Amino acid sequence: MASIAVTGSASGIGAEVCKMLESEGHSIIGIDRNIDQKHTRIAADLSNSTGRQLAVQEVSRLCEGSLDGIICCAGVGVTAPSTSLIVGVNYFGVTEFIDGLTSSLTKASNASIVIIGSVAATHQQQETAELAEAMFAGEEEKANLIAETLGSTHLAYAASKYAVTAWARKLSISIAKQGIRVNVIAPGAVETPLHQASKEDPRFGEAVKNFVAPLGRNGQPEEIANAVSFLVSEKASFVNGSVLFVDGGMDAMMRSNKF
Ligand code: NAI
Repeated sequence: MASIAVTGSASGIGAEVCKMLESEGHSIIGIDRNIDQKHTRIAADLSNSTGRQLAVQEVSRLCEGSLDGIICCAGVGVTAPSTSLIVGVNYFGVTEFIDGLTSSLTKASNASIVIIGSVAATHQQQETAELAEAMFAGEEEKANLIAETLGSTHLAYAASKYAVTAWARKLSISIAKQGIRVNVIAPGAVETPLHQASKEDPRFGEAVKNFVAPLGRNGQPEEIANAVSFLVSEKASFVNGSVLFVDGGMDAMMRSNKF
């Protein structure tokens, strides 16, 4: 039985990922802000280093030093109360958590990391280049300052998702020889509490509701979980460093000539 750590296990995509992987016979170690009755066994706040290290320590303890997979779903959206929270959870909450656990992954065969990025990763990269550089350099305080100066949760969100995707692609090269595959899923609009909050926000609601994928609907969390299930399986044994858009065609609609 494979042990898989899943962040953001209490809601939306993360909860669905836990449900699906558990039904496939995996043992799930869920991490979220609060323990719940379902899959969340570790309460940790991934927005700061203390919480991330607690999560790493507890996952290592529960998997007894041998983990088969890490799925990072925890994230905050454009309605987050601050731009630095977006940077803290969506970028450092992924990178510091994964860095702390890769030594546990090297003991498994066909170990796999999947990060939930976003179709937004491809947006507005020039405007946020300095912020992305600070994230790549691991300078969280500097990144927070730049994010606060930017003052736009949209820009901070796009930058955090771009940076975490690029970080994952670099990681996929450096740890491939240890038998660990790293891939990113870039969802479009998916019906979850995070997306619902965007639709209800007086600042962005109309734009969010009007931005519909070519398939003419938003996705469901299980459609993202299906892609996670594939990427952690043996069927994806040669898939590494990829960004899989699961977005109803949104990326193709936005930039058909770029891939
Ligand atoms: P959600 O709000 O339903 O679930 C997010 C989970 O992350 C929650 O359980 C929440 O408690 C947890 N979380 C947030 N901050 C945390 C923190 N500081 N420490 C620990 N846990 C924390 O949202 P959803 O939609 O399921 O989002 C999952 C991922 O998918 C996120 O990374 C999001 O950016 C991404 N995504 C979602 C899209 C959508 O339309 N729903 C579109 C593209 C990407």
